[in-house]
Amino acid sequence: MSERVIPLIDQRLSALLPPVPRQPITADGLLHDQLGRPLRDLRISVTDRCNFRCSYCMPKEVFNKDYPYLPHSALLTFEEITRLTRQFIAHGVRKVRLTGGEPLLRKNLEILVEQLAKLQTLDGQPLDLTLTTNGSLLKRKAQVLKDAGLKRVTVSLDGLNDDVFRQMNDVDFPVADVLEGIEAARQVGLGPIKVNMVVKKGTNEDQILPMARHFRGTGIVLRFIEYMDVGATNGWRMDEVMPSRDVMQHIHQQMPLVPLEASAPGETAERWGYVGDDGQYDPSLGEVGFISSVTQAFCRDCNRARLSTEGKVYLCLFATQGYELRELLRGGANDETLSSAIGAIWQGRADRYSEIRALLPADQQQQSGRRIEMSYIGG
Ligand code: GTP
Ligand code: 5AD
Ligand code: SF4
Ligand code: SF4
Repeated sequence: MSERVIPLIDQRLSALLPPVPRQPITADGLLHDQLGRPLRDLRISVTDRCNFRCSYCMPKEVFNKDYPYLPHSALLTFEEITRLTRQFIAHGVRKVRLTGGEPLLRKNLEILVEQLAKLQTLDGQPLDLTLTTNGSLLKRKAQVLKDAGLKRVTVSLDGLNDDVFRQMNDVDFPVADVLEGIEAARQVGLGPIKVNMVVKKGTNEDQILPMARHFRGTGIVLRFIEYMDVGATNGWRMDEVMPSRDVMQHIHQQMPLVPLEASAPGETAERWGYVGDDGQYDPSLGEVGFISSVTQAFCRDCNRARLSTEGKVYLCLFATQGYELRELLRGGANDETLSSAIGAIWQGRADRYSEIRALLPADQQQQSGRRIEMSYIGG
């Protein structure tokens, strides 16, 4: 059993005041941060709770019955989330992802989906509106989410073997129910569906091939995620990371792969396609993705902002502090002020945590610091 690092300081309590520039910042989609990166992707956490206790995210020892989850009054209402999202869109956001914790635990989430689905991007297109879920409630919710206007879902699943999966979610949740959730999403048309598998060396690497075989040729895109040093509680160690290159080689030996083009700038996953009998990519067999934040940082094109459940904006998954927008919102700020604040926050951004970590000597890459938890700002 690896040693756990329990945070002594609750990073949620530490916040930055949003800058409100004297001259309004025009919301025209041309905003760039300090490294020239545009704002395109907004990830909204709608709850900090989850019914799973994956050890790499919400280890039981920390997230127990005494853990101080956010009180209901602290959460942004759906109207507040929608109002802020409109300002983010004005600055160029095209993709909105609802996350958690487990987003389907937020009551009446479909009402928020309905509000967000009505928003349009700057060029008059519908939003790419999606959601990351552990799948446990998906069977029950797929149809109402689809009806509310959700476009697609991404489901987390770390293995097909029931014992391995139950051990990883640490609440004894069966694989079969998640597979039923995925099937329900497929039936109602919440696609293209993606499945995210975090690979932890020594825990679920034997699930790589069964997962690849299971999803090959189904139209569902399986993506392998390197176990990351997010948060301060998961006791991350470099020797538990399985580099994407090794995962890729492992699959390639059994089911040959060829590299595919990125489908969008700033994409998290590197795409590889399965090869058919003629030695070429065969679209009917589909593709797999590799998200390699540890061994191949992708900060250079990172266009993602994160909005926490209580209305703080985080500029990086590994941030230690967020900008408090809720007080501005509840203090009666008008849309122009909110928009300018968001603009100024993004213009000041220079975050590139994964790139910087990769430059550190190996023995210093393990420091967890005071980072905010992933269950709080969303994946
Ligand atoms: P698609 O639009 O469906 O391709 O989604 P996505 O890849 O942007 O989002 P998803 O939530 O599926 O991301 C998959 C995983 O990649 C997350 O759960 C994280 O583990 C990781 N990830 C996402 N964004 C970032 C990021 O900005 N930095 C790092 N280091 N990891 C990220
Ligand atoms: N490393 C990599 N991915 C993680 N996630 C949560 N914690 C980690 C971690 N330590 C991601 C998983 C999961 C999503 C909700 O968050 O992809 O599917
Ligand atoms: Fe819950 Fe997802 Fe975190 Fe697992 S990874 S504890 S399912 S939020
Ligand atoms: Fe973006 Fe931070 Fe992830 Fe780099 S580490 S890709 S800057 S969120």
